[in-house]
Amino acid sequence: MDSPIALLGGRPWAVILPVFHLIRRILPQNVQLWLNQISCVLSISICASVIRIVPSGFPASGNGLWYTSPGTRWAKDLLPVGNGHLAAMLLGGTTQESIQLNIESLWSGGPFQDSTYNGGNNLRSQRIQLAEATQRIRQNIFSSPSGTIQNIAEIMTPAGAYGSYAGAGYILVTMDASGPVSEYTRWLDLDAAVQRTTWSQKGARFVRESFCSHPLQACVQFINTTTSTLPTLTYAYSVAPETGLPLPNVTCFDSSTLRVRNVIFKPGMLYEFLVRVEAPGGEVSCTANDDSSPNNATLTVIGASEAWVTWFGDTDYDMAAGDFTSNFSFQGPDPHNNLIDLMSSMHASTDSYTAVLNAHISDYTSLMDRFSISLGQTPDFKLPTDQIVASYQSHIGNPYLEWLLFNYGRYLLVSSARGTLPANLQGKWADAQVNAWGSDYHSNVNIQMNYWLAEMTNLDVTNSLFNYFENTWVPRGRYTAEVLYNVSHGWVTHNEMNIFGHTGMKLLGNSAQWANYPESNAWMMIHVWDHLDYTNDVQWWRRQGWPLLKGAASFHLEKLVEDLYFNDSTLVTVPCNSPEQTPITFGCAHSQQLIWQLFNAVEKGFVAAGDSDIEFLDAVRTSRERMDMGLRIGRWGQLQEWKVDIDQPTDTHRHLSHLIGLYPGYAITSYSPSLQGGLIVDGTFMNYTKEQILKAAEISLIHRGNGTGPDADAGWEKVWRAAAWAQLGNGTEFYKELTYAIERNFAQNLFSLYTYGSTIFQIDANLGYPAAVLNALIQAPDVASTDIPLEVTLLPALPPSWQSGSVRGARIRGGITLDLSWKYGRLDMAKFTVDRDVAGRVRDVNVNYARRVVGRFRSNPGTVKNIRI
Ligand SMILES: *[C@@H]1O[C@H](CO)[C@@H](O)[C@H](O)[C@H]1NC(C)=O
Ligand SMILES: *[C@@H]1O[C@H](CO)[C@@H](O)[C@H](O)[C@H]1NC(C)=O
Ligand SMILES: *[C@@H]1O[C@H](CO)[C@@H](O)[C@H](O)[C@H]1NC(C)=O
Ligand SMILES: *[C@@H]1O[C@H](CO)[C@@H](O)[C@H](O)[C@H]1NC(C)=O
Ligand SMILES: *[C@@H]1O[C@H](CO)[C@@H](O)[C@H](O)[C@H]1NC(C)=O
Ligand SMILES: *[C@@H]1O[C@H](CO)[C@@H](O)[C@H](O)[C@H]1NC(C)=O
Ligand SMILES: *[C@@H]1O[C@H](CO)[C@@H](O)[C@H](O)[C@H]1NC(C)=O
Ligand SMILES: *[C@@H]1O[C@H](CO)[C@@H](O)[C@H](O)[C@H]1NC(C)=O
Ligand SMILES: *[C@@H]1O[C@H](CO)[C@@H](O)[C@H](O)[C@H]1NC(C)=O
Repeated sequence: MDSPIALLGGRPWAVILPVFHLIRRILPQNVQLWLNQISCVLSISICASVIRIVPSGFPASGNGLWYTSPGTRWAKDLLPVGNGHLAAMLLGGTTQESIQLNIESLWSGGPFQDSTYNGGNNLRSQRIQLAEATQRIRQNIFSSPSGTIQNIAEIMTPAGAYGSYAGAGYILVTMDASGPVSEYTRWLDLDAAVQRTTWSQKGARFVRESFCSHPLQACVQFINTTTSTLPTLTYAYSVAPETGLPLPNVTCFDSSTLRVRNVIFKPGMLYEFLVRVEAPGGEVSCTANDDSSPNNATLTVIGASEAWVTWFGDTDYDMAAGDFTSNFSFQGPDPHNNLIDLMSSMHASTDSYTAVLNAHISDYTSLMDRFSISLGQTPDFKLPTDQIVASYQSHIGNPYLEWLLFNYGRYLLVSSARGTLPANLQGKWADAQVNAWGSDYHSNVNIQMNYWLAEMTNLDVTNSLFNYFENTWVPRGRYTAEVLYNVSHGWVTHNEMNIFGHTGMKLLGNSAQWANYPESNAWMMIHVWDHLDYTNDVQWWRRQGWPLLKGAASFHLEKLVEDLYFNDSTLVTVPCNSPEQTPITFGCAHSQQLIWQLFNAVEKGFVAAGDSDIEFLDAVRTSRERMDMGLRIGRWGQLQEWKVDIDQPTDTHRHLSHLIGLYPGYAITSYSPSLQGGLIVDGTFMNYTKEQILKAAEISLIHRGNGTGPDADAGWEKVWRAAAWAQLGNGTEFYKELTYAIERNFAQNLFSLYTYGSTIFQIDANLGYPAAVLNALIQAPDVASTDIPLEVTLLPALPPSWQSGSVRGARIRGGITLDLSWKYGRLDMAKFTVDRDVAGRVRDVNVNYARRVVGRFRSNPGTVKNIRI
């Protein structure tokens, strides 16, 4: 028998050190640093790699990111804070701090830049000509031997002044101090949504604290020191490091407030910041450098014991002015007066920094703390986050980092979605004047993925998303439906969406693969439907959800046509292609599955809507009976991507378009032969079993590769694949793909990067990640009809690395909260609690674990169902 010491490799410090680390964690920082030197003497390996330990004040849960030097690279090092309306990226500087600013609506383009901007649409007078062109396109597709064509450019339109989301400059903070900096750390506290930087300089210790407060509608940065007064501080505004923004007017609003006025282009959208500094015990003055052109005022703080700057900002954009009544001007009032009101309400309601900080933390935690997760992680208090990321290896994994990324996804969504506009391709964090893909709202997976986690992790943040549809998608989307599609009911959008109602089909070369996507509205309606299904908020449904859904369904109802290629009398979309992938053909699996789900949602939500339009409901039911289901098994056993069997086994495309019904949809996952079978295509009776359909989906998924291939290496594709593998109950492949995404696509600041090593931040993988993780732990996919029981599966794809863990406060369909825990890889307990008010939407629920039913209940209000294995 080996002694415990021998078991641990014969190193006595292997026993001593964990105890040692435990003790020193609770000691003051200077003692900790000193003890750290001792541990170096005890263990060479630790000495070499771990000189530093977590900063004091770092969350005891380990729920944070920390670093030992200031950041330099925007996309990889800087740390984000935001309240949805404003956002900022922080370097964590010392004597020089630069705060990169964002205002959610600051966009170039649109009617602000071009008064003739019309959302990339055709003229009304072109309607007949377009309808005829579409007829020809359809005929060409149906009469082509392959059922495909190359080009639909004739019905597409140039994007016009599409614009881009833009950075809003910088606040520069300069401290009149010199001398070497030591004991530097910066971190982001995910329990409190506060970023901190601390360092020592000339015998004094400094603390800088930054956050964006939702209650205050402002961002704040605080600084103090251990000596009696801070060195002199100056606060200035700059656009210098940023290419393109015109020079701003920076004037003294009063002796402690800067007023920044600028436009993004000339002509272009106007923006303003009020930047106010408070300095207890000291003096703040504003110097207007009248001789510089344009005016560049600065604030100076002398003799203060602490100082804090608060900035308020807005533009003259108004989402509610994006309809016919407002001539799609999106023009709002000058933001100045509103900013003054906000600033004075701050002074009226709160006077101390601590009060502002506490109000922020309690607002943030009240939203976040409804849900929590554990993956059995052991927090690492020795290695800074950049080193944890650098040493991360796929397959092997590290539950601590995997857990952090989950929490970070929720942090990023809460910090970017609670504005007027929803989270865009970069949340709300972007530095350049023109950002990758305009940092827009790509609607063929990206914006959808941003919101996958929202309902399930009980985040009440979807308001801006639905308002954005209602205000910017629907009004001009009606026009596009009429003029481009000759469809008189409902509304349509395509893939690339800005904040100015860009509903047209964007022409850019032969760009059907990017733009021919009139199913973006159908995919987004999953989120609208889910909001009702998770919350049972019938009032919201009647006011906003149902009108959105009905409009999207009306459009597709009218647009489906009979298949004149196979002449099987089914209804299909034509022309269509998979998102970002040609050929241009008909009956694309992706479109058909989505429209089928959309039609089901009409039926399922009809009663709750209180709508009396029975004719509409009947028409939807009739078309649903007749439509092609987008589920066909092809010549190499794959689930066909198109109705014609032309898939290539070597196609490793980014998107899993035809697997939409596997995840996040349910047309594959909850496949029902009686509802979706029975079609005759090309003389063949389609009567697949569920097993056959799932097998075909698996074959397609395998052939799609791991998310690295030609023009394919994004984080979101790997996260999507991980979720799809989890859906198939394959924990091994799930974990491989998830950990591969982390290894390949996540930077030191845990931002997801577009491709390996790139400097393009794209937030979708960050936000899709928690949903993929949850899909391995809890599944409760939607079903075609409310009469079909909800099938909940617990731990369907638990990877061996997460031996024990728990989830508290997860939400599933039906207004049900689910807590569960597992130990040694096996379910320990699950508890279902149905809301007290389910608005009459009661349903049957079956609970499955390890391939058997372990519980059943009916979701009557207040029902509690405990399951123990
Ligand atoms: C409405 O906007 C269009 C551009 O979309 C412009 O040509 C027209 O002059 C505007 N009409 C009014 C009344 O402002
Ligand atoms: C356009 O729609 C109208 C009625 O909605 C229909 O009568 C007409 O035939 C359609 N035009 C074409 C070319 O499809
Ligand atoms: C400085 O601020 C930090 C964070 O608010 C606080 O914990 C600390 O006590 C303050 N230090 C001094 C000397 O006031
Ligand atoms: C204003 O002056 C500061 C230096 O005091 C400079 O760093 C900043 O770039 C200037 N801002 C503008 C907009 O010129
Ligand atoms: C900046 O000041 C100049 C000179 O007063 C003025 O013409 C310009 O309109 C101002 N720009 C903004 C955005 O307010
Ligand atoms: C399908 O029907 C159309 C119109 O009736 C006809 O032109 C076409 O040849 C038929 N195609 C096949 C494959 O039968
Ligand atoms: C499904 O089709 C096959 C062959 O077309 C047939 O043998 C089988 O009986 C069918 N099954 C059902 C349930 O209709
Ligand atoms: C992912 O697939 C690519 C391309 O097939 C391959 O080169 C790479 O080794 C794979 N990576 C992993 C971790 O499986
Ligand atoms: C998971 O998928 C892989 C790859 O297709 C396969 O080899 C393995 O058997 C699957 N595991 C399970 C449990 O289905």
